Amino acid sequence: MSQAPRKILVTSALPYANGSIHLGHLLEHIQTNIWTRFQKMRGHTCFSVCADDAHGTPVMLKAQELGITPEEMVTRTRAEHHQDLLDFDIDYDNYYVTHSDENKLLSETIYNRLNAAGYISKKTINQLYDPEKGMFLPDRFVKGDCPKCGAEDQNGDSCDVCAATYSPTELKNPRSVVSGATPVLKDSEHYFFDLPKFEGMLKDWIQSGAIQSEMANKLQEWFEQGLQQWDISRDAPYFGFEIPNAPGKYFYVWVDAPVGYMASFMNFCAGNNINFDEYWSADSDAELYHFIGKDIMYFHCLFWPAMLEGANYRKPTGVNIHGFVTVNGAKMSKSKGTFIKARTYLEHLNPEYLRYYFASKLNDSVTDIDLNFEDFTQKVNSDLVGKVVNIASRCASFITKKFDGKLSQTILDEALLNEFTHASESIATHFENRQYHHAIREIMALADKANQFIDTQAPWVTIKDPDQQQLTHDVCSMGIHMFRVLSIYLSPVLPDLSQKAQAFLNDEFTWDSAQTTLTGHEINKFKAMLQRVDADKVAAMVDASKENLAVTEDASKAKKKTKKETTPAPKSDNELAPTISFDDFAKVDLRIAKIVSAEHVEGADKLLRLQLDIGAETKQVFAGIKSAYAPEDLAGKLTVMVANLAPRKMRFGMSEGMVLAAGPGGDELYILEPHSGAQPGMRVK
Ligand code: MSP
Ligand code: ZN
Repeated sequence: MSQAPRKILVTSALPYANGSIHLGHLLEHIQTNIWTRFQKMRGHTCFSVCADDAHGTPVMLKAQELGITPEEMVTRTRAEHHQDLLDFDIDYDNYYVTHSDENKLLSETIYNRLNAAGYISKKTINQLYDPEKGMFLPDRFVKGDCPKCGAEDQNGDSCDVCAATYSPTELKNPRSVVSGATPVLKDSEHYFFDLPKFEGMLKDWIQSGAIQSEMANKLQEWFEQGLQQWDISRDAPYFGFEIPNAPGKYFYVWVDAPVGYMASFMNFCAGNNINFDEYWSADSDAELYHFIGKDIMYFHCLFWPAMLEGANYRKPTGVNIHGFVTVNGAKMSKSKGTFIKARTYLEHLNPEYLRYYFASKLNDSVTDIDLNFEDFTQKVNSDLVGKVVNIASRCASFITKKFDGKLSQTILDEALLNEFTHASESIATHFENRQYHHAIREIMALADKANQFIDTQAPWVTIKDPDQQQLTHDVCSMGIHMFRVLSIYLSPVLPDLSQKAQAFLNDEFTWDSAQTTLTGHEINKFKAMLQRVDADKVAAMVDASKENLAVTEDASKAKKKTKKETTPAPKSDNELAPTISFDDFAKVDLRIAKIVSAEHVEGADKLLRLQLDIGAETKQVFAGIKSAYAPEDLAGKLTVMVANLAPRKMRFGMSEGMVLAAGPGGDELYILEPHSGAQPGMRVK
């Protein structure tokens, strides 16, 4: 290894537990994962952790809306997020949740230390309160008329029409977004963290190279405006951790969220015999990096280092800030179908495409990154399929068919191969500095050279000449050597392609493998490694994303859309859907359900509201079976339901699953009924 081994801990910002992972989040997770995989390949000890950010008012309200406890919702969302990430080959060493014992303990410890050191004070403040709901309202839960221009229906903190910023108490005709009630002003005692005390330390830390200089300049403006006391408490009802010795007061979500990095790591240490303090004590010699988006730098570059310093922990070595993802040149938009969820992407496209595309655009600046679908399709097809994989596919079959699957003993063009192996440190430096676009550019320039070499040598011509067999063998082997080095360099970006290349080459890659050559080595039969991006699938993904939005629509429309959105649906009932794997099938949790009650839904001409008992819980489902069944015919019957379908908000309430019925529709619709003996809650297998 070219450097002494380092100890590194890496984090990505913790996604909120009240929404799905989307392409914007993925930029960050992919950026982090490439860096982590790179460090691991270099032989360093590098761990990456993340978690779901469980706490706060939006999570609490969303759970209420779904009629479940916040704990239950967070458990579900965490599992969903984790699976989304794994399916993009984003493999955190631990993916935890902030609502955990470790996080409670660490948050309390940090608070107690800050309090003991005199950094916490109390002050009564006056805030808008929803008298109907019985809760204080965060800014974004108050709407009203702009105090400056009078525009209606503006947010609590700023006006979309005249861009004025103000406090929610200044709004005219304010109303609570939660209940519609008119908020009243109410006093409450809040806890404050003494941020201004840390000004000197923060200035030094920011100048230490911990953050990009463009961001350091931005922070400078904040110092000029003067640091403020930070309000760290929220009143009950709040989903979070109660503050020690302060009944009814909770830590503001942004207090325990970054502590969640520590907690996730602590949870990981316990199971893996790793010393937590080695990474977090004030004198730690390990490196700590947070990857975050530019919207949350204030929290990571001011409050967080100050909290750590005040509680006698180490500070981050670096906070790596990235810009935002735009799609086709504009902000991700639900109506344009460019607000694309991780899962929707996965249903249509290979995750390696996105990893590659983002890598080819990522650098160490905070400029936004545009995902342009034409460029995406073109770049992946021309670089990965047309250049990289093409090198192997042009050479491999001759080796297998004509040369016993063995590479030749000679290296035909040493100077050329040296160009490949000597690029190692330059490419490594680009990865290390998060200049992934430079790394990719350098790798692709080499891929061009490899293809030129093969074009010039034309092994498909020489193979036909009995006198040129040795040359052909050497040319094809040379091609495979070059392909191998490129695959090594691309491994942090394309873990799946890397795995396939290692299987094909009978090899195991580390970064330094690029310095060795597999002369005389036996390789395996070449199998297709990557399909071309199919532009139709990109279009289908955008279409499906438009339809993900069935939020407040009429239920029967929503139902039709569900059908379209799941790709492998048959075009008509006469046609069978494409084959799916057993794993795909196993994702569907089918349960025997007892119809506890069925009733008409006011204003819906096709729907019945069903309450379904599935043993452990009762689910509400809106089913489009009104034209075939009278409610009284259904109550008491057993049927089969999809119990793990994502809940869907309809105009009439939440629908938490789907009952299975067969038939063309209208009055010809037959719900499925199990044989007698089946009990509510039994899994259908
Ligand atoms: N829960 C907080 C983070 C707490 S970290 C202690 C949060 N969550 S988030 O889900 O809103 O965002 C998570 C990360 O995704 C943030 O770093 C944010 O910048 C990033 N992104 C969210 N939307 C994004 C884009 N459209 N583009 C790029 N990154 C984006 O903030
Ligand atoms: Zn205004």
